[in-house]
Amino acid sequence: MTIYEAICDDHAQQRTLVGRLVDLQSSPAERSAALGALCRVLDSHALAEERCFYVPLMLHGSTVAQSRHGIAEHRELDGLIATLGDTDAASPTWLPAARRLQRRLEHHLTEEEGEMFVLAREILDPGESAHLGRRFLEEIHFERGRYRH
Ligand SMILES: [Fe+2]
Ligand SMILES: [Fe+2]
Repeated sequence: MTIYEAICDDHAQQRTLVGRLVDLQSSPAERSAALGALCRVLDSHALAEERCFYVPLMLHGSTVAQSRHGIAEHRELDGLIATLGDTDAASPTWLPAARRLQRRLEHHLTEEEGEMFVLAREILDPGESAHLGRRFLEEIHFERGRYRH
């Protein structure tokens, strides 16, 4: 599996979870549970992505600015998750905060799958993208395994 396929598969899980946060049919308890799950998924995804995608790309000068931008958005998403974590899932302020997180997350995922992947494909040869895909999956499995203990 290439690094692109591994990242995209994980993005699909994030889109499903963030969809539950804005689902008016779900109960406050279900929304809180989805936020906890999304927080763990995003945290491990961002770490694996920074180690196995952004750092290797930043070794090439042409991708430094775009890589920094992607990493800065990880920190922005951390802030939006923390804000939502401080919000009562039954309160009227939950939905606007959840929608903002959904919008910013979708922006980030689309940018990575679009212009970031285009840039990366100019730099990483097929052997490197397969190697980084394996490393990314190992990091993700390791980090997610830690949450279960
Ligand atoms: Fe990312
Ligand atoms: Fe990502």
